[in-house]
Amino acid sequence: MRIIAVANQKGGCAKTTTVVNLAACLAELQNRVLVIDLDPQANASDWLGANGPEDGAMLIFKSTESLTSVIGSCGVPGVDIIAASQELAQIEKVLSGELAVETILKRRLKKMPVDAYDYVLIDTPPTLGLLTLNALAVAKELLVPVTTHVMTLSGVTQLINTIQDVQEILNPDLEVLGFIASRFDSRTRHAHDVLENLVQQFGDQVFKTKIRENIRLAEAPSFSESIIEYDKNSYAADDYRALAKEVTQRTTSNKKTS
Ligand SMILES: Nc1ncnc2c1ncn2[C@@H]1O[C@H](COP(=O)(O)OP(=O)(O)O)[C@@H](O)[C@H]1O
Ligand SMILES: [Mg+2]
Repeated sequence: MRIIAVANQKGGCAKTTTVVNLAACLAELQNRVLVIDLDPQANASDWLGANGPEDGAMLIFKSTESLTSVIGSCGVPGVDIIAASQELAQIEKVLSGELAVETILKRRLKKMPVDAYDYVLIDTPPTLGLLTLNALAVAKELLVPVTTHVMTLSGVTQLINTIQDVQEILNPDLEVLGFIASRFDSRTRHAHDVLENLVQQFGDQVFKTKIRENIRLAEAPSFSESIIEYDKNSYAADDYRALAKEVTQRTTSNKKTS
């Protein structure tokens, strides 16, 4: 079971788009995939048309029931989901006074059979608060989408600092699986500049696959379909399929965060 967190505290950098479509493409490659939505905005849960408990993620933190009881199915074949709810925004308050609150998800996931899924993908909110820390504490690998629309590398530096703190204090096993250039529009000079900057800073930690700007990705959520169902011939489908292949081939064993 490879547990992968998708994080970048910058909103709108394609975290949710990546979680949903990478999950669908990994499932297409015959993997069993679990998505855990830790964003109170519940965009991934809505997009995937989650069945099962609407507040599944909150139940991870609040109850001691087995994880299997909070997992639901969804419209995408091969993908299960633990859904988020707005209530998650109150997590700090709900857990005040409890011990080791950063490792609740880790302790709960540990009890699940290791062969239950091939991949667990965790979507995170646009903050470095308790929910994202829970994702970073349990993940072995981290995916960082970076939008090439706007200059966002300063936020990445902040994320790297947090990763180093997490490695020291909570999870020495955490490694960056890769940075994903997202919303890439090759017609703009700016996109090329951001990509170049990213490669200069992170070298081959940047995935070869770029996710190009494609309106089909923005349309798909309204139909509760991943891109490979909504428009299997779009280049967004090609991009996410290529990314899924790269993710399956790439392991963090020979990569370092800094
Ligand atoms: N490759 C893309 N092409 C076009 N629109 C995209 C692409 N990736 C993401 N978007 C759009 O950008 C917005 C932010 O994406 P989202 O995945 O919700 O980001 P995050 O989860 O990081 O906040 C959404 O409206 C989404 O539809
Ligand atoms: Mg999101």
